[in-house]
Amino acid sequence: MKEETKISRERMVELLNEDLAREYQAIIAYVIYSQTIKGAEYNHIAQELEKHAGEELQHAINIAKQIDYFNGEPTNKPKEVKVSDDPKKMLQFDLENERQTLMNYRQRIQQADAMGEFALGEVLREIIAQEQEHLQDLADALGIDTPKIE
Ligand SMILES: [Fe+2]
Ligand SMILES: [Fe+2]
Repeated sequence: MKEETKISRERMVELLNEDLAREYQAIIAYVIYSQTIKGAEYNHIAQELEKHAGEELQHAINIAKQIDYFNGEPTNKPKEVKVSDDPKKMLQFDLENERQTLMNYRQRIQQADAMGEFALGEVLREIIAQEQEHLQDLADALGIDTPKIE
């Protein structure tokens, strides 16, 4: 995924809106999964997922703020949220979304830095640190190694 590093402000707004749509997706998924995941072995992760939901909301607000700063319109459309009755599947959906989100933000940070938008880079770095924790929580709950991001 070696995409564009030098991008315009307009393109940055487009990409941040994709990020925002993913944050909405994450909020919705974590709200639903945290309340519907069943089974004693999932009690701990259910509480974690509830925490994630709140963190994703803060990410969404921070991304929307940056879009507004770039004179863009924050999107009102989440990316599609997959649902399942199978707790393992829910956690796998989340894991894959977090992995994708981490790859996107990694690229976004490079793009922000290349634009000289260091405040944006700072906001994104704070977000990406939390996404990394989300990924780790999910990998732990699934009993797997934390996936490599590249
Ligand atoms: Fe997020
Ligand atoms: Fe996350």
